[in-house]
Amino acid sequence: MTTRVLVLNGPNLGRLGSREPDVYGDTSYTGLVEQCQRTGAELGLEVEVRQTDDESELVGWLHEAADGGLPVVLNPAAFTHYSYALRDACAQLTAPLVEVHISNPAARETFRHTSVVAAVATGTIAGFGLGSYLLALRAVALGLTEG
Ligand code: DQA
Repeated sequence: MTTRVLVLNGPNLGRLGSREPDVYGDTSYTGLVEQCQRTGAELGLEVEVRQTDDESELVGWLHEAADGGLPVVLNPAAFTHYSYALRDACAQLTAPLVEVHISNPAARETFRHTSVVAAVATGTIAGFGLGSYLLALRAVALGLTEG
């Protein structure tokens, strides 16, 4: 059976390609979706990529993953740094959760150094551009997230 994985993206990530390309690169969000799906297919994963600017929609998708026992690759974007609602939703997941960031938040402004999600994630991959997502999918496929 193919493992279904949700790749969830928070605010402003739909603007990849035009948004601060010096920080986030010039590949569009559609390009990210294609790369994730291609890598997922290579790894035998059924990857579904979603993006929202809305905290409540993202929380709803995490509830869906919790109810379905689905692994999640999550770029919480700015919510990373302050959304306890998102953290509490992440804490309900039973399958692996990989937090990803395109940039390396630890090397940026101080407010980005805190992740309220990290402690309830299985692990975090940051700083590898869109490659962070592809590495996260590999971690899921390899079962590296089982502790
Ligand atoms: C980000 C880093 C966050 O600090 C920022 O708010 C984002 C993107 C990243 O992928 O590097 O929106 O999560």
